[in-house]
Amino acid sequence: MELEQTIRERRSIRKFNPAPVARDKIVELMREAERLCVRDEEEPQRRYLYAGTPDARKRLADYLTEKIEDNKVAKLALGKLIGTFHKRFMEPAANIIVIAKKGKNPAEGARNYGTACRIMQSFQLLAWREKIGMVWITEPFVLNERFFDRIGLRADERFVGLLQIGHFDKAPRGRGRTPAERYWNVLSAPGAEVLPANESETGARSEQIRYKDRPVPADLVLKLLNHAVWAPNHRMREPWRFTYAERGAHGRAEQAANTAPPAHLIVSMRAETDEHKRDENLAAVYCLAQNFCLLAEERGLDAHVIFPNWMFDEAAARRLKIPDKEQIVAVLELGFRGEVRSAAAEPPPGSDKAETLRWSEL
Ligand SMILES: Cc1cc2nc3c(=O)[nH]c(=O)nc-3n(C[C@H](O)[C@H](O)[C@H](O)COP(=O)(O)O)c2cc1C
Repeated sequence: MELEQTIRERRSIRKFNPAPVARDKIVELMREAERLCVRDEEEPQRRYLYAGTPDARKRLADYLTEKIEDNKVAKLALGKLIGTFHKRFMEPAANIIVIAKKGKNPAEGARNYGTACRIMQSFQLLAWREKIGMVWITEPFVLNERFFDRIGLRADERFVGLLQIGHFDKAPRGRGRTPAERYWNVLSAPGAEVLPANESETGARSEQIRYKDRPVPADLVLKLLNHAVWAPNHRMREPWRFTYAERGAHGRAEQAANTAPPAHLIVSMRAETDEHKRDENLAAVYCLAQNFCLLAEERGLDAHVIFPNWMFDEAAARRLKIPDKEQIVAVLELGFRGEVRSAAAEPPPGSDKAETLRWSEL
């Protein structure tokens, strides 16, 4: 199946049939998903908790309903609901809880959370090709301290999502997406004048990439975005906004060395005071970013997600004409890849490092 088609046709699946999904298949797909997203990581910044056996699935359902069952009045009133919950968590062949490290600073935290989300999106796409469906769950009943205690979430960790996985008979119809043009702005000033330098950037590459002296056409970026917007996003909030910046004639020193990316795509989203909604929106943006990276790669365009400290700098956002009510949440460096200078410094996708899955059973 074509990548574009997979991205557009993937649906969140909430009704599963009883066909089993082999644990080994799930691990293999997650390994592949990591390989597609992780390049320069010293050690994994996330882990996976797997509930695939009937016992583990029951345990998961018990953990999720414990808080209600503790409260006698609620238990009486919600007895039926508890039964429904159990069924809901016993039905899918498998569940995976994804947990990311918080990181030592905001940029590191964003990178760890963003990378976990991007991996989850790649995993959804790879699984879809094998007719395995899933839904990403972040409902409030999952986000409770009691449950986090039960699954052993540590103080330096953050819950990213619970994936319910299984085979299905029929995919629901997709709800259309808003064209990317609606959320698109091209900076008229050359990016080299308004983009801050990437010093102390989190997510920097270990290799020195060299770009071809070839512009990245804005209409190509927009075209890819119009496929990428088929990312999962809860309640169809489509939180993403795009700012496209070409480097322009300035920044010549770097340009001459071909080490400065010819273009940047900056993704922002409306500031959200509700933490839960904000995390869901962030996750949706990173799913979109992952769609974009995969689509770009198919066309020989290098798209690399970075988390520079200036993402959190209001003055930088103003220079980039990001509206006051929005915040920058992802920055993509774009360029057609020339030669890689020191191949040895680049752990190729699929290196052992990227394949170290932190996997345990619930
Ligand atoms: C971060 C995130 C959280 C989500 N949480 C839930 C959830 O708690 N319950 C649910 O039914 N679907 C959840 N979804 C799925 C979305 O509702 C779904 O992606 C959206 O309705 C678009 O449908 P599609 O995925 O079929 O394209 C979530 C998706 C994402 C990306």
